[in-house]
Amino acid sequence: MLATATDRIRRRALLLVVAAIVGGICALLAGVSAWLFALGACLALGLAALIGLDDDGGAFARDGEHHGRFGEAEPVGGWRAVLDAVPDPILALDEAGTIIHVNPAARELHVNARVGGQPSLLTRDPEFLQAIDEVIDDGRQRTVEVQERVPIDRRVRITLTALAETFEDEAATDAGSPPRVIMALHDLTEQDRLGRMRVDFVANASHELRTPLASLVGFIETLQGRASSDPAAQQRFLGIMSQQAARMSRLVEDLLSLSRVEMREHLPPRTAIDLNETVAAAIQALEPVARASEATLTFIPCEGPAIVLGETDEIVQVVQNLVQNGLKYGRPGGTVEVAVRRIRQGPSMRLAVAVRDKGPGIAPDHLPRLTERFYRVNAKSSREKGGTGLGLAIVKHIANRHRGELRIESELGKGSIFTFVIDEQARRPSD
Ligand SMILES: Nc1ncnc2c1ncn2[C@@H]1O[C@H](COP(=O)(O)OP(=O)(O)OP(=O)(O)O)[C@@H](O)[C@H]1O
Ligand SMILES: [Mg+2]
Repeated sequence: MLATATDRIRRRALLLVVAAIVGGICALLAGVSAWLFALGACLALGLAALIGLDDDGGAFARDGEHHGRFGEAEPVGGWRAVLDAVPDPILALDEAGTIIHVNPAARELHVNARVGGQPSLLTRDPEFLQAIDEVIDDGRQRTVEVQERVPIDRRVRITLTALAETFEDEAATDAGSPPRVIMALHDLTEQDRLGRMRVDFVANASHELRTPLASLVGFIETLQGRASSDPAAQQRFLGIMSQQAARMSRLVEDLLSLSRVEMREHLPPRTAIDLNETVAAAIQALEPVARASEATLTFIPCEGPAIVLGETDEIVQVVQNLVQNGLKYGRPGGTVEVAVRRIRQGPSMRLAVAVRDKGPGIAPDHLPRLTERFYRVNAKSSREKGGTGLGLAIVKHIANRHRGELRIESELGKGSIFTFVIDEQARRPSD
């Protein structure tokens, strides 16, 4: 009904425009004054603009493909609007199996899905294509899982549901076919990735624990057997055992600390703290470590108060991890510099804690992976230095929780700069 009325108005407007143009030309030829011609032309242009606007609106409503997601479009009714309101990816097929609607979530997931196209545009998986035919034939719901390799590796579960009610009336008004099958897509890729990560994590953690544990068991056997009457050997073995036990407890502590930060990652800290003071305290606690490795530790605070919303213990942990890395992997007897700096990023001010060493640096291909759990450039040397390979993973999660970031710059032969960046607050809330 509405569409027919709109069409009628549009046809009349078109007639008026043609009449105005013809009238204007005749008036000009007949020698009528130029202002009358101008009046006629203005009328023609105005009406033409009106038709143009109406045309756009028509297309908008007709194919239902441009319904804005955040209320840009006028509210629309009907089954298309219902599918558009669902946050999961959904496509509708007609009796012939042609795609007649793609909701916004499906458009985001499947670039290939388009109205008028065939479902084989999504995937040519034979089981999927056969399931569509069967659902159209017998009306029974089916679920298939398809694996795509291109453009990216993706596993999607598709539920095909036949519609008993065919929306004949509504389809007739928008000149389309009625929907026959609703295809709901559920992307399982992220779920798979998390599952794989969990398996890898457990495997890595057990591997890291098994090595010192095996060493402890071996030494206990030796102490009970061969070395039972050799006090010098006993002292030596007990020293190694104590180192291995310390390594195991460090690993367990790091694992716990990682899981604590992860659990609270969605809760950003709300306490205002001064970054200059927190970093200074962390560095002071590290002085003995620096002295033991004969390195120099320097600190340059930024001017004025450096207020951030942060968890003191976690920021201390960030500084400790980064400085310990600088001391461990930097040049022996070298300098590790820590500086708090104010940086502008777009309209906001941020604070950066930069830890710089002049050690051998890290090759570029390792940089993107450094924050992965247990990733080490040289696992053997890291283990020998007492590393568990979790330090930077913890730093990254703390940065995420603080809605900040960790930037890593390094050049082989020149050294590395690890920078923790966080938003600056104007002042303490209590001020
Ligand atoms: N300043 C640095 N210079 C050179 N390499 C570094 C530096 N910081 C980190 N790395 C490399 O990154 C790897 C990961 O660092 P991370 O802090 O996560 O683990 P770790 O130091 O081995 O162990 P942990 O910190 O858990 O005791 C290190 O093993 C090392 O290879
Ligand atoms: Mg470390």
